[in-house]
Amino acid sequence: MTTHEAETSSPPPPGGCPWQAAGSTPPGTPAAAPDHPATAAQRGPLPSYLPRRPAPDVVRVLAPTGDRLWLVTRFGLGREVLTSTRFSRAMAVGESAAAIHPMRPDPAALTSLDPPAHGRLRKLVNRAFAPDAVASLEGVIRRTARGLLADRHTADLVSGYAEPLSASTICQMLGVPEAEQDRFVRLANRAHGITPCSPEESESARHELRAYVGSLVELARREPGQHLLGALVLAHEQEGALDEKELLALVELLLNAGYETTIGQIGLAVLALLERPDQWREMARRPELIPGAVEELLRYAPVVPISFTRVARQDVVLGGQRIRAGESVLVSLLHANFDPEENASPEDLRTDRRTARNLTFGHGPHVCLGAQLARLQLRVALEELADSCPDLALDADPGALRWRPPEAIVRGPTSLPASW
Ligand code: HEM
Repeated sequence: MTTHEAETSSPPPPGGCPWQAAGSTPPGTPAAAPDHPATAAQRGPLPSYLPRRPAPDVVRVLAPTGDRLWLVTRFGLGREVLTSTRFSRAMAVGESAAAIHPMRPDPAALTSLDPPAHGRLRKLVNRAFAPDAVASLEGVIRRTARGLLADRHTADLVSGYAEPLSASTICQMLGVPEAEQDRFVRLANRAHGITPCSPEESESARHELRAYVGSLVELARREPGQHLLGALVLAHEQEGALDEKELLALVELLLNAGYETTIGQIGLAVLALLERPDQWREMARRPELIPGAVEELLRYAPVVPISFTRVARQDVVLGGQRIRAGESVLVSLLHANFDPEENASPEDLRTDRRTARNLTFGHGPHVCLGAQLARLQLRVALEELADSCPDLALDADPGALRWRPPEAIVRGPTSLPASW
């Protein structure tokens, strides 16, 4: 086994950190050991197969399923995988493809499709997530955030801030009736490991969530309303633009992707800042820094550390490695964000960094549909915190925080007790 084939099948040591330099540097890889210990925002549990830095550009890894996949760790190579038609998403969801998780993705979901089916479905939802449509939500997001912080001096910033903010935003956008929102939150929190529970309980919540989505679609059939849910039901029934399976999978994806990611990202961003109180205070004093800080926080502590899997349609040479047709490839979005060729001193959190280049929302045809919405929520969440709680401080040891399970892929602390 050469260094470039090093397999990372074992988890980092307890309390260990994939960002600490491990042993010698393989030839041809960037030598970028952090000059200070990584913060909890970077260190929280990560998938066991993510190698420590510095990592080879393209490396074979062993997933907990026992499957072997290629992992790409550089920014430029990652973008190539996410953009090139030489890699397929549809082939990656087949039963025979290597997988990182025993739960197979739904083949009817937007994320599982290649062109032209992918473009047909994406066109149906693009408009609702366009910059002007998203910008029109700022007022309501801000009022919700402000209301959540009013008249209090302590809160769990996950359950008392990020969760209700994220739930109300995505539910309003889709048109989930208010009376149905609590049920969504309860089910989604169990399904995604935000509420600590056993794998069996999570699995059963995922089934219930699917049935819940079915009932929302039935409701929208009777009363389509003016929201995205109604528009998708009409696109199915009147125009035949998508079939029943695609409709259900799309609504489920929008609800889940819109909810759990934003919670995790707000939690990670706030934690990263509170671990560097000088940066928090400076940002609270100068709120004009917040839009730039949002990009840096997305780079530094990305809530989704890895891309979905792709399968090579043909033999491809990438970063000096020959990837054979049919083999599976993942991009480490986290490693790409710390590529020293893209961002100088990547281990440093610099909220005044001018251009924080990151792959946090992916790239290419499957680039995150909700990226503008997520950026808006993160910016408003930080602006309102900075305005209402400039003296914000964490009421817990960052090393003792509880986290979502590492295999959950979407990461983040499940609780952030804070006071101001
Ligand atoms: C900070 C928050 C978020 C992050 C970091 C994030 C990250 C990502 C990434 C990395 C991908 C692409 C994965 C790949 O190609 O392998 C993706 C796709 C997607 N995201 Fe997000 N996401 C976030 C928030 C949201 C929100 C708020 C929504 C709203 C519904 C959303 C909806 C989607 C959808 C529908 C896709 C699939 C797009 C497609 O396949 O064409 N995401 N997201």
